[in-house]
Amino acid sequence: MILSIESSCDDSSIAITDIESKKILYHKKISQEEQHSVYGGVVPELASRLHAVALPEILKETKPYFDKLKAVAVTNQPGLSVTLLEGIAMAKTLAVLKEIPLIEVHHLKGHIYSLFLEKETIFPLFVLLISGGHTQIIRVESFERMEILATSMDDSVGESFDKCAKMMGLGYPGGPIIEQLAKKGDENRFELPVPLRNSPLIAFSLSGLKNAVRLKIEACGGKENMNEQDRADLSASFQKAVKLHLLQKSKKIFAKEHIKDFAIVGGASANRYIRDAYEKLCKEFHKTMHVAPLEYCSDNAAMIGRYALDAYEKKQFVDPNDIDIIRTKKQQNGMLL
Ligand code: KG4
Ligand code: ZN
Repeated sequence: MILSIESSCDDSSIAITDIESKKILYHKKISQEEQHSVYGGVVPELASRLHAVALPEILKETKPYFDKLKAVAVTNQPGLSVTLLEGIAMAKTLAVLKEIPLIEVHHLKGHIYSLFLEKETIFPLFVLLISGGHTQIIRVESFERMEILATSMDDSVGESFDKCAKMMGLGYPGGPIIEQLAKKGDENRFELPVPLRNSPLIAFSLSGLKNAVRLKIEACGGKENMNEQDRADLSASFQKAVKLHLLQKSKKIFAKEHIKDFAIVGGASANRYIRDAYEKLCKEFHKTMHVAPLEYCSDNAAMIGRYALDAYEKKQFVDPNDIDIIRTKKQQNGMLL
């Protein structure tokens, strides 16, 4: 069995995965959303203190599996350094004490592997990754080869939902709140620009749209003067602009790439409105669409464990003295490394 740990942002999570059957034998996640929501976003120092309490609490529950552990896996990048270090410290300690291999897992690769939970891998495939930290389209050829085809030049999709929600005084995380509110709104009431609409660039940009939302809030007289309907209409109009932006750029890649399998992963892939739009697009382009089970779209240790199964098979281990966070140099040449 492999024990996996995830602490790259505001979720403390540990999973136990069976190496032979790929089954998730144990999975728990303690989210810190409530504690961060008063600040309208994640406060790194607070997050690391909460991990320091939650991770040992969860670890205690995994004691029955301890004798059978063959490896420990942990997210080591990208993420908040102070929170990554909490998970890494725990993983290192376990690996050294139990004298078992340590596996480092790239968080975004973990999200990609959320598609393969309790299943075999599907390669090649291309993936739209929409999370709180990233917005990318990645061509996944194999465990070793993942190439970034498009990326955001500024904010990520999840971040733009969070920031727009904060501007409207709606709380954190903004994604699910905006999605729910949008259901009661008129998506055509506020005219918002679709980012990079007239640009040939195959890239994403969300900060201009966020600014346009800010101006609409000001035009309403500030968030204090917005009523429930205003907020619902602006949420719906914003979500529509995000959808159109994602679709427009994805279409360009769909037209070029002849890979049959397409997937959406990351926290914002839980968004039904965006999923529905992609289901239509996939039909139009004859692609097969994949998504992770809903509870594994946002950060979790099970996806880290699933990636670790393949790393274990390939004996990709790291010396506990060498494991480190965020090695940006390694991400050059458009490859996810
Ligand atoms: O993947 P994730 O859990 O963490 C990162 O790796 O960043 O993604 C969290 C992000 C947050 O920004 C959150 O607002 C967004 O995912 N999110 C959503 C929805 N659910 C979560 N965004 C849009 N619609 C949703 N339903
Ligand atoms: Zn994530």
